[in-house]
Amino acid sequence: MNNKKIKVKNICCLGAGYVGGPTMVVLAEKCPQINVFVTDIDKKKIERWNSKQFENLPVYEPGLSDLVKKCRNKNLFFTTDIQNAIQNSDIVFISVNTPTKTQGHGAGYASDLKWVESSARIVGQFAKGHTIIVEKSTVPVRTAELIQKIINHYKTDELLTDINNKKTFSVLSSPEFLAEGTAIKDLEFPDRVLIGGDDNDALDTLSLIYQEWIPIKKIFRTNLWSSELSKLTANAFLAQRISSINAISSLCEPSGADIKEVSKAIGADSRIGGKFLQAGPGFGGSCFQKDLLNLIYLCRFYNLDSAADYWEQVIKLNEWQKKRISKIIIEAFFGTLSSKKIVLLGYSFKPNTNDIRESPAISIALQLIENGATVFIHDPKVSESQIRNSIEIEETYQKTKNSINDNWSYEKDLEKIVVDADAIVIVTEWEEYFNLNWRGINKLMRRPSWLFDTRGIVNAKELEETKINFWQVGKGFLKKE
Ligand code: NAD
Ligand code: UGA
Repeated sequence: MNNKKIKVKNICCLGAGYVGGPTMVVLAEKCPQINVFVTDIDKKKIERWNSKQFENLPVYEPGLSDLVKKCRNKNLFFTTDIQNAIQNSDIVFISVNTPTKTQGHGAGYASDLKWVESSARIVGQFAKGHTIIVEKSTVPVRTAELIQKIINHYKTDELLTDINNKKTFSVLSSPEFLAEGTAIKDLEFPDRVLIGGDDNDALDTLSLIYQEWIPIKKIFRTNLWSSELSKLTANAFLAQRISSINAISSLCEPSGADIKEVSKAIGADSRIGGKFLQAGPGFGGSCFQKDLLNLIYLCRFYNLDSAADYWEQVIKLNEWQKKRISKIIIEAFFGTLSSKKIVLLGYSFKPNTNDIRESPAISIALQLIENGATVFIHDPKVSESQIRNSIEIEETYQKTKNSINDNWSYEKDLEKIVVDADAIVIVTEWEEYFNLNWRGINKLMRRPSWLFDTRGIVNAKELEETKINFWQVGKGFLKKE
């Protein structure tokens, strides 16, 4: 707890997505003296944040709905009235999307900053008095300069005393490091918080807010560009570890080494550490690939081609791992998946979230469909319409759709979905898949039956008394009749 007094009364956040929503909910809970306005241009999203049914919130995170229940309409407000929220706020967080550009200069690599730019413009337009703008979105290094240039057009004289007409700004960078599925815990107990900037008053103001629940030694002050680049670098390092362990998983399978044993052995070295060494079907999520592409773009921009190639390999390996797993499944059926029922257990990119952005399940489902399979999908939190939107827009699907009808299906009931299945593929390690009754499932599947465990969560012993053939990532074929 800090001794200095927080002067901030109102905060607003532009963007009520996976970051803006949970981040502001935790801030509101930790700082009951501050009014927090969470805004979005998406009216439906705000309606869902205001929904009386807490299971309808647009973001699923363990612990989130309890906090919303506690703070909503007390000091936490979800609103589309962006103008009013900005006008009244001392601090505006920008937490909008920064996806990879799909067209124009830098397409396929650079981040599309149009939402950040338009945020800067509306803050410039509506802000009153002195406003601290905090970049929370993940952005390319030197984006704060772009924001500064935009808001300079709206700035009034620093010495103006008429508060109603005065407009001055400070820009800070404070990237978010939460991971989905553990967002609330990550926000409440972060490993560190970064605040980048050169305006000491603004840095003190933001630091005081964080100090309400975060020990000061975990609040790192840096310059703006270090803060922006640290975020991209952190994601690049995490993604690189996953590609490294996945590369080793492919070597374990033919050589007889066991990926779990290798991970444990190397993770015990304190210089390496045990986290992010879980082999799987490739990393997903909205950020790892996007942020790596952005980093690659920046390296090429500064003519650092070898550095760019180095990071590009992390993405290539990830793509290869997804395809490698689909190929193993297809080859187990001698290349013929037509009239085969394949069950995918899990569709979100990781457990405890309803987010499917870049989920490896999407590309695995599409590759199986392309090869003629009928794919049945189960996920505890992902909805049928989310799955439809992710599959049916893809070109691969459009091509196969004309020749094959009903090539995917959604089923919420785990007992029903396995009936007459030729194969079950565990794609996401949801808790409900850890202790499935394989002996019971064995009786319901069609022969020859297969289990492909892409997350390494099933104990081979549980399949001993079944006729299910078994493949596991980083261990290979553990049972094949
Ligand atoms: P998201 O798509 O879930 O949410 C972004 C929201 O911003 C959308 O609802 C969109 O409608 C809204 N928006 C766009 N322009 C707006 C404007 N002018 N005013 C108000 N709202 C506006 O995205 P996200 O996952 O929350 O990610 C946001 C940023 O945070 C990205 O830069 C991302 O890289 C970064 N990030 C994401 C995560 C994560 O786990 N998802 C973690 C750390 C950082
Ligand atoms: C990641 C980072 O962990 C966060 O710190 C960061 O803030 C966030 O990206 C972001 O910038 O968006 P997130 O993508 O939510 O968070 O989830 P992770 O736990 O990092 O998992 C990402 C992907 O890697 C998942 O598909 C997961 O299954 C996979 N993964 C993770 C593995 O395959 N093996 C592992 O050992 C760890």
